[in-house]
Amino acid sequence: MSIREQFETVEITTDLLILGGGMSACGAAFEAAHWAKENKLKVTVVDKAAMDRSGAVAMGLSAINMYLGLKDDQNSIEDYVKYVKNDLMGITRDDLVANIARHVDGSVHLFEKWGLPIWKDDDGNYVREGRWQVMIHGESYKTIVAEAAKKALEELGENGEYFERVFITNPIMDGNRVAGAIGFSVRENKIYIFRAKAVISAMGGAVHVFKPRNVGEGLGRSWYPPFNSGASTYFTTKAGAEMTCQEVRFVPIRFKDGYGPVGAWYLLFKAKSTNAEGEDYMEMNRAELENWGVYGKSQPLPTNLRNHLMLIDERKGKGPFYMQTAEAIKKIAEEEGDEMAAKRKLKHLENEAWEDFLDMTISQALLWASTDVAPEEKPSEIGATEPYFISSHSGASGAWVSGPKDISPEEYHWGYANMTTVSGLFACGDASGASSHKFSSGSFTEGRIAGKSAIDFILDNKQLPSVDTSKIEEMTDEMLLPMALFEQHKSHSTDRDINPHFIKPKMFMFRLQKIMDEYAGGAGSSFMTSKKLMEKGLEFLKYMQEDSHKLAAESLHELMRVWENIHRLYQAESHIHSMLFREETRWPGYYFRTDFPKLNEGEWKCYVNSRRDPETGEYSVFKKEMIELVKLEE
Ligand code: FAD
Ligand code: ADX
Repeated sequence: MSIREQFETVEITTDLLILGGGMSACGAAFEAAHWAKENKLKVTVVDKAAMDRSGAVAMGLSAINMYLGLKDDQNSIEDYVKYVKNDLMGITRDDLVANIARHVDGSVHLFEKWGLPIWKDDDGNYVREGRWQVMIHGESYKTIVAEAAKKALEELGENGEYFERVFITNPIMDGNRVAGAIGFSVRENKIYIFRAKAVISAMGGAVHVFKPRNVGEGLGRSWYPPFNSGASTYFTTKAGAEMTCQEVRFVPIRFKDGYGPVGAWYLLFKAKSTNAEGEDYMEMNRAELENWGVYGKSQPLPTNLRNHLMLIDERKGKGPFYMQTAEAIKKIAEEEGDEMAAKRKLKHLENEAWEDFLDMTISQALLWASTDVAPEEKPSEIGATEPYFISSHSGASGAWVSGPKDISPEEYHWGYANMTTVSGLFACGDASGASSHKFSSGSFTEGRIAGKSAIDFILDNKQLPSVDTSKIEEMTDEMLLPMALFEQHKSHSTDRDINPHFIKPKMFMFRLQKIMDEYAGGAGSSFMTSKKLMEKGLEFLKYMQEDSHKLAAESLHELMRVWENIHRLYQAESHIHSMLFREETRWPGYYFRTDFPKLNEGEWKCYVNSRRDPETGEYSVFKKEMIELVKLEE
């Protein structure tokens, strides 16, 4: 029996297809189910993993990083837009950020209603980590949110369904209208063909495009979850959608090796970080901020500029760097006045410090335990990670989407909020670009916006798009080719991984990571790159495109690995194209162009958008005008 004959084909027809089961997909499902019920429409969700623990919130979180408190006049929408714009060095879509900001609080209140414990002070108010963040006991955050999404779908009866452990590989198209998606089960020999009137891409961002700091036995311990591998960028790019900010990666500073979060330390505990000499590098290098325009004068300083000030010291050999944990909690405890109260407070703070990790990055707690770190006794090492693609945090890469009718400039609005430039294809969370700092709550909220808007689209476009069955046959063969290749050639060599006829996905990934690290400004190159380096990198990626047709898989699990790496390759290509096009350095702590080392507000305060021609594979990269709704103060 051929490989193709060993697979059963399952065909699903639906109205709305939601791809991904993370925060934004759950938001989309929850909201769409409400409007679908009224209109008797069907909603289908597909996740490569199990929704209870899938995506970036899998392990839980210790804070909700986007909550405005509009009801109590704690903040204004305009302030939030300014905060985000400043953090991204001016490059952000005000309309998209404002749209999320005006709705996000309601989502947080829902989470609490569903059972998420949010820290409260003695007066019953949420405990703020910083101005925009609230603290949670968030170990079960994702389980709670997924339960609500599943319940909403279940209430639709046969019009609501979700598929778990189904990996989406490709879009199905009807000209410039999306017609569905194709994928396979990672547990059974089943191919899935989904036909739909509208599709929401919510498959997160990407990790392991760049060589990670942790290799060998530590591979997989990255900050961004290893299971998000560029499917969103691939899906919208393959559908022919316009993308934006594909150059804007994110490099977080984290507790070293375990990638524990730093937000609680900087904001809640007011800790300082220093170089090996105990010097506060933020203070020592402050003069450098003069070079970064209005952004270098702001409070808080943009995330990438905070990185930059640390990297200046690192390049001078002044590491390792430390979070001064002991100093910070001692200071807070001392404010208690008497000795007993201070002791009690110290114990309490110690607990909070451990919980911060146990809620969301358990391995950092294990690393502390195994390396004898007691945060109240000694400082803990921090460092810059490898680059990731996560537009819901402090990166910005993703699809160029329509804004809402009531606040978007005409140029940024083409009918349905969060629809990409492809008819019927929507994007949210890490999949939509130029609207950073949405985090878990904002991603869920943007999912709700996309879900409602996609239902509107379906009501206006009732016809199921037509699909070319021969094209689907072709896509199915392409999807299974890696398994067929393995079967055909496996006996040619005594090693299942090394064979002149094919390449295994792990080797392929290592090669991609090496190219990105050395030519596209990875951690190993101290985040520095240039035109010549990137051109060379693109040449190598072209060879990888050719070799991708020789990827082989000996199991369903490995077939998933193959497709993850094809997705990563597209993320890598579009990243280099966009960095190459932007002839300036705007985010020095994310990447530094040695040939254009300065910020150039005159020429480059604009979006870098791109599109890959689905027929020819050619990229066009172009500037898109920035239309601002609010201005940053000089
Ligand atoms: P995700 O929630 O990551 O969901 C992506 C989904 O796509 C997953 O279900 C995945 O299984 C699925 N998927 C991927 N590929 C495929 C495919 N090929 N086929 C089918 N399905 C696929 N936010 C906060 O508010 N507070 C915090 O403290 C906080 N800490 C964070 C810590 C870390 C380490 C990280 C990485 C993020 C943190 N965030 C935090 C941000 C928050 O997690 C994200 O903003 C949010 O999860 C983004 O939602 P999303 O739906 O875009 O992606
Ligand atoms: S998390 O996603 O892993 O939780 P992190 O711990 O870095 O991220 O940050 C949590 C929140 O605090 C984010 O909103 C981030 O932008 C903010 N933050 C982190 N460090 C600082 C800092 N030094 N100054 C201002 N804001 C910060």
